[in-house]
Amino acid sequence: MTLDERTADFRALRRQIEESILPLATSVDGRRFEVQSSLYGLALEAGGYVVLESEDGARLGQVVTLELASVEGSELTADEGAVSLRARMTIRIARGEGVVLGGDGRPFHDAIARPADDAEVARWLDAARPEHAMLEIGSLLLAPAVPASLDAAGFDRHTFLCGQSGSGKTYSLGVMLERLLLETDLRLVVLDPNSDYVRLAALRPGVAEDEAVRYAEATRGVVVRRAGDGLRLRLRELQPATRAAVLDLDPVADREEFALVDELLGEHGMTLEELTVSEDPAARALRLRAANLGVSAWDIWARDRAESVVEDVEQRRERCLVVDLGSLPTQGEQSTAAAAVLEALWRRRADREPTLIVVDEAHNVCPQEPEDPVTALASEQAVRIAAEGRKFGLYLLVSTQRPQKVHENVLTQCDNLVLMRVNSRADLAHLAEAFSFVPDGLLGRVPAFRQGEALVAGKIASHPTFVRFRERIAEEGGADVPAGWARSRR
Ligand SMILES: Nc1ncnc2c1ncn2[C@@H]1O[C@H](COP(=O)(O)OP(=O)(O)OP(=O)(O)O)[C@@H](O)[C@H]1O
Ligand SMILES: [Mg+2]
Repeated sequence: MTLDERTADFRALRRQIEESILPLATSVDGRRFEVQSSLYGLALEAGGYVVLESEDGARLGQVVTLELASVEGSELTADEGAVSLRARMTIRIARGEGVVLGGDGRPFHDAIARPADDAEVARWLDAARPEHAMLEIGSLLLAPAVPASLDAAGFDRHTFLCGQSGSGKTYSLGVMLERLLLETDLRLVVLDPNSDYVRLAALRPGVAEDEAVRYAEATRGVVVRRAGDGLRLRLRELQPATRAAVLDLDPVADREEFALVDELLGEHGMTLEELTVSEDPAARALRLRAANLGVSAWDIWARDRAESVVEDVEQRRERCLVVDLGSLPTQGEQSTAAAAVLEALWRRRADREPTLIVVDEAHNVCPQEPEDPVTALASEQAVRIAAEGRKFGLYLLVSTQRPQKVHENVLTQCDNLVLMRVNSRADLAHLAEAFSFVPDGLLGRVPAFRQGEALVAGKIASHPTFVRFRERIAEEGGADVPAGWARSRR
């Protein structure tokens, strides 16, 4: 027998054995199961849905990990003349674990595991649907005919939205905001650093009429505050520490000036212009400081008696307030406005008004390593809200490209995860640790996501699952630059 013939024989024998492995699942607690299957015609995948059929009935399961496993097969003997060779053949199978999503909670043994069709998935998930409002954000990636719905009540936990640039975070966040507006009464305050949500109330053409009518109704309370149009502040509305930080004063090193700022700009509510007319040389020095730092030239100050965004937060309490930070020309104004809004929300915490605080590009608003004192205070405020806001109805939804650049005390307080494409192994490892309830087997798919695909987990999801976000119904603010320049010229 030639080597080729022996190899062919071996392969045929091994294949015969490997093909005979049945797709069987066993569970000792009725909640988690182990499953094995032949690699030939493998129909299981991590995140995929299976129907588990045993003698006492069927239930829906989700495979969460699936790996190649080698097991020892039967002993082979070959006679080579006087010598008899014995060896064990290694058999390769797919082996995994899963969770039971629908069933009676009883253990089962050697249930047949077959892929569930979309109708079966829909039926089981419907049966387990909570009573709360559901936000239909798209479809299940691995059961495309089944709508993917988030449990609106789950937004009473903080939510972390992560994905690399271009993965679709801003777009998908827009989808979630639209659904929250349509299906709930939750108040929304959006810190919008790239002016992406300034058109949240503007419907796209082509939206079905009944939805368009409902959306128009739902967005009546959407208010956008932008530079020159309502995005104003007064120094006296800032916390003393923030007011001093804006003027680059240190509470210890600059004790005197710090106290003066508190007195004049805080207690007396003076504006920077009013400092000019003061006879007090200390006031004059303060004014010079503000002028030299460029702070007096900021457009954000409510010089006249116009309303301020802090009043919007504290008193008017619009259903949805979009703070267009992107319209502000300087980084200083942006971080001051962000700090002022977060402070105002925290100040009014005793009102216990359920509010979702949405922060896109959160690595700029609440960074782990702030680059200036005002940002440090905004970050501190976000950390306080992350830690203690929930009991006052202040819920965060933070979005970022870089999980390690957001303050870790914000990240670790998040119970919900919406994870879009992430390539960086370090970022994924960081997320896996922070969201240890998400099975590793599901995280493995994240680097392969296409735009608009996500893993959702936590209280907003009935189970960790893959989704594809639907189309938005409102206009995008600053969509990507079109890639027409790369069109083929041939
Ligand atoms: N589900 C989707 N359907 C259609 N277009 C989408 C979808 N998701 C994203 N896009 C488009 O892809 C582009 C990039 O998406 P988006 O701005 O949401 O990415 P991002 O993750 O926020 O990126 P960055 O971190 O750079 O802000 C946008 O032009 C957006 O219109
Ligand atoms: Mg974005």
